[in-house]
Amino acid sequence: MSIAKLWKTNKMLSIVIAVYIVLAIVSPSKGLLALQNSMYYVFEMLLIMPVVFILTALIEGWVPKESIAKGFGEGSGIKGNILAFLLGSFSAGPIYAAFPVCKMLLNKGASIANIVIVLSTWAVVKVPMLATEAKFLGPSFMATRWVLTTIAIFMMAYIINKRVKKEDLPAEQATGLADSASAIRIDTDYCIGCGVCARLSPMIFKMEGDKATVILENPNPKQKQKAAETAERCPVSVIHVE
Ligand code: F3S
Repeated sequence: MSIAKLWKTNKMLSIVIAVYIVLAIVSPSKGLLALQNSMYYVFEMLLIMPVVFILTALIEGWVPKESIAKGFGEGSGIKGNILAFLLGSFSAGPIYAAFPVCKMLLNKGASIANIVIVLSTWAVVKVPMLATEAKFLGPSFMATRWVLTTIAIFMMAYIINKRVKKEDLPAEQATGLADSASAIRIDTDYCIGCGVCARLSPMIFKMEGDKATVILENPNPKQKQKAAETAERCPVSVIHVE
């Protein structure tokens, strides 16, 4: 892949690398410190994100769309709000781990309001955090903040649900050529770039950077069969074959 293409597909990462290089030249000690801090977070993410992606993929594969839509969808009412509140409250891990989970819930029919509730509770009122807060700042401080924050979360969910529509959100990226999109496609949002598909079926899949893409136009039944077999080997089940 050319440098220009790498830059185009990883703009943010390229900018960060350029900033590090400039910092290392201007002030090597600060550059080193920044690199050490970044590495700390990179390792933290490497420990957490694979588990999150696998859990997300398992829920996506095993929990029927109807169950998510019923539990967290538009028609779920206050019951759905409470469920979303509990999901966020009893979550573990940093807030960035919540995004793939919420994206999957949205794709399966959860409402915007419930996604706001999951994200917000995950970020500011999850139970392990409350226990630590009570220990350091006292139960009364924690309880008052919890009540006020919970009220604010429900108000926010109501307002955002009114203002933001699902059509306003970025559509799920799916690769595949136009006329075969329904035959073989990959949910690239969840592809972890292991390359198994491209190795097993190089006539059907190839890697583009750290994501797999479908290269086969008009697959015949035999090729679809091969794609389906390959799909079974994808560790996060993101290949779909009609
Ligand atoms: Fe991605 Fe699955 Fe292929 S994770 S690289 S689509 S095997």
